[in-house]
Amino acid sequence: MRLRNLLIGGLVMAGSAQAVPMSEGEYLATAGDCSACHTAPKGKPLAGGVRFTTPLGDIWSTNITPDKQQGIGDYSFEDFDRAMRKGVAKDGHHLYPAMPYTAYAKMDPVQMRALYDYLMQEVQPQPLANRASDIPWPLSMRWPLTVWNALFHDSAVFRPDPQQRAEWNRGAWLVQGPGHCGSCHTPRGWAMQEKGESAADAAYLSGGELAGWYAPSLRGLEPKTVVDLLKTGRSQHSAVAGPMAEVVTHSTQYLTQEDLQAIGAYLHALPALPSAVSRTATTAAGNGKQSYRQYCATCHGSNGEGVDRFVPALAGNTAVAGESSLNAIRVVLEGAHTPLTQQGLSQTMPAYAWTMDDKQVADVMSYIRSSWGNQAAAVTPAKVKAIRQMTEKQQEGK
Ligand code: HEC
Ligand code: HEC
Ligand code: HEC
Repeated sequence: MRLRNLLIGGLVMAGSAQAVPMSEGEYLATAGDCSACHTAPKGKPLAGGVRFTTPLGDIWSTNITPDKQQGIGDYSFEDFDRAMRKGVAKDGHHLYPAMPYTAYAKMDPVQMRALYDYLMQEVQPQPLANRASDIPWPLSMRWPLTVWNALFHDSAVFRPDPQQRAEWNRGAWLVQGPGHCGSCHTPRGWAMQEKGESAADAAYLSGGELAGWYAPSLRGLEPKTVVDLLKTGRSQHSAVAGPMAEVVTHSTQYLTQEDLQAIGAYLHALPALPSAVSRTATTAAGNGKQSYRQYCATCHGSNGEGVDRFVPALAGNTAVAGESSLNAIRVVLEGAHTPLTQQGLSQTMPAYAWTMDDKQVADVMSYIRSSWGNQAAAVTPAKVKAIRQMTEKQQEGK
């Protein structure tokens, strides 16, 4: 009888959202999305080898499995803590800030220990050797990073704000710490440092550009929009593609409901900034209407209303009518699919780069940015051309 109850309990668990119980360390590794950067496409989990293109040259992420020769198997907890908090590897060399230790430093020693135990005990060792960076000497000298850290890095753990509720503080810790949301959503300064690391800075999470995508401002978003997007990759206002789809797939969909709500509450409380670009309505969208009817209306609806839960509405869509048209243009050129999550199937948007020229794409973009209540500026064929060239180059580099 007890066995049967246990079995039924197990089945119910397997059917619910948080099916597989994770250790605290695995939960932190998931919230921190270590695999996004330390697991190569088709590579072994956390064995490194992911390429990062920097203005100085390429670098590769390292093997963080507990392999004694190639991985971090001989890292003591103190070595690991120093790498995660100060950006200094066991042999004393400074890590490039492509590794977001500036955010992970917010974790306290107990959390860091749980993460360490997970990596050492639950991850399979992989004997894959690290690759040296391509950055030519003298730029490859790592000592200037000491100066960079002195200028821009605060290695203090997260300090809760006693004026705020526990939920706000949990959200602040998740966003500033393991979630390292600012590494994409905060604009960067002259030395690639994030301009602002907490709610005290107006530039914090106000929108940034990375690898040919625009990560929009997260300030003042509705909590429900945030929770839905992080859980399923979709909300009533938009659907995510590109790097954010990966964040949802590997990381945020696994966060607990309470943690997602905490993130929503924290982002909602950040004062939204006034829009920098004035939203000029356009008339140059007549040709676009024709293409829209031909190519797009079957899925997105003749009034941009979308299909509930399957195809995002384009009317009132933040990716379409926002300041930056970059992501929307990319999606039309390259196609996209919503992340496949525990919540539902992935939906596909076809690519149009092969059938529509720059002017056609510009016209249809101008049309959807200025119809059904959307009031964003027109898109020029030159802009589409530049984005097309960039994405083609990125695909060759893959
Ligand atoms: C945005 C990309 C990114 C994410 C996310 C990331 N890392 Fe890294 N990590 C890197 C890169 C790149 C390096 C190598 C830096 C260098 O060589 O200077 C690195 C290096 C390291 C090192 C030093 C290893 C060595 O060989 O000495 C450790 C330890 C580490 N990461 C742990 C983690 C853990 C744990 C997580 C998740 C909580 C994580 N990283 C998430 C990019 C990332
Ligand atoms: C077969 C159905 C289908 C057709 C045809 C289609 N789309 Fe989509 N579209 C989708 C789906 C599904 C998504 C969600 C994918 C994602 O963003 O991950 C999407 C996403 C988008 C987005 C991004 C929205 C967001 O919230 O990020 C834009 C912009 C867009 N489509 C414009 C167009 C335009 C313009 C056309 C015609 C040239 C078109 N679509 C044709 C199904 C379609
Ligand atoms: C690797 C870079 C990256 C990281 C890390 C990242 N994001 Fe994003 N995020 C993006 C990009 C790019 C978009 C735009 C996606 C699109 O339009 O399809 C986005 C979109 C979003 C949106 C939709 C905003 C809107 O107005 O439509 C939300 C909400 C969001 N991110 C929240 C977060 C949170 C919270 C975190 C941290 C837990 C995070 N992101 C971490 C790159 C990132």
